[in-house]
Amino acid sequence: MKALAEDAHVPVMMVTAFGDFETMRQSAECGADGFISKPADLRELALRVETMIRTKRVVDELYAKNRELEELGRFKESLLSMTAHDLKGPLTGIRGFAELTLHKLEDPQELKELMHDILLISSYMGNLLENLLNLSLIRSGSLELDIVPVALKTVVEESLRLLKYELQGRKLELRLEDMQVAADRGRLRRVFVNLLGNAVKFSPPEKPIHVTTRRSDGFAQVLIRDEGIGIPRSLLPRLFEPFYRAARKEIRSVPGSGLGLHIARCIIERHGGRIEVKSRVGLGSLFTFTIPLS
Ligand SMILES: Nc1ncnc2c1ncn2[C@@H]1O[C@H](COP(=O)(O)OP(=O)(O)O)[C@@H](O)[C@H]1O
Ligand SMILES: [Mg+2]
Repeated sequence: MKALAEDAHVPVMMVTAFGDFETMRQSAECGADGFISKPADLRELALRVETMIRTKRVVDELYAKNRELEELGRFKESLLSMTAHDLKGPLTGIRGFAELTLHKLEDPQELKELMHDILLISSYMGNLLENLLNLSLIRSGSLELDIVPVALKTVVEESLRLLKYELQGRKLELRLEDMQVAADRGRLRRVFVNLLGNAVKFSPPEKPIHVTTRRSDGFAQVLIRDEGIGIPRSLLPRLFEPFYRAARKEIRSVPGSGLGLHIARCIIERHGGRIEVKSRVGLGSLFTFTIPLS
């Protein structure tokens, strides 16, 4: 019976006509939590059942806490291994490029390109650290928003400036309506940086990236579209989970930590908005989110 119930921790009371010690011992060995011999006093039976229910509640709580702790442990492990792994790559890159510059001091053009690569990697590391910081605030429930009226266009421009190395040489199609939103400026920039960063990473350099903002039912609606590799439909449901990176050969060489979309969604939802994705493999992806108008 206990084996059948498995995770439910069902307490079992043995009610039997055999009141001897041997029967008691056997039933305890088989997993019974209580024992009462017939004819049973109904009041005693009720009292025992009540005690068992109380114990079961405590046991259930303990198991739930235990599961929570296990989940937290796994989360911390992924965080640690991800961070170590993700910071090692770019650091090696920076060191390599910096060493190369020492040998290229006479060639200004090559020097410029190497410096650009260093700045690009630093920008990547900066964004990763920002995401980690946001994640820790989200997990501890202390992500505070400083909501003020802000021009959406300005936030887009600031985000593009933050991504200037990533966006170099990329074609942007901007259709931005003038409007004020009620938002935390820094956090909203983070959403743009994460979504635009993905559009850059997951589409070929010759393809444009489209950013459109428009009004819709008291909200500002933002559409970020790329013409890149797209996302298989089966992977869409898990896309916003922390640390989720689609298991696809196409993205194996693309650096990332699987935090960007999770953080974007948390920030948008905390503003009272929504984020969704539509995508077709080989054609591109469209991320749409809303933010309340001020
Ligand atoms: N614009 C996009 N085109 C194709 N795939 C995307 C796009 N944006 C996100 N993805 C997929 O979703 C995953 C999770 O994205 P994200 O949370 O930003 O993590 P990361 O960029 O660090 O991999 C990515 O690894 C990628 O597989
Ligand atoms: Mg990303």
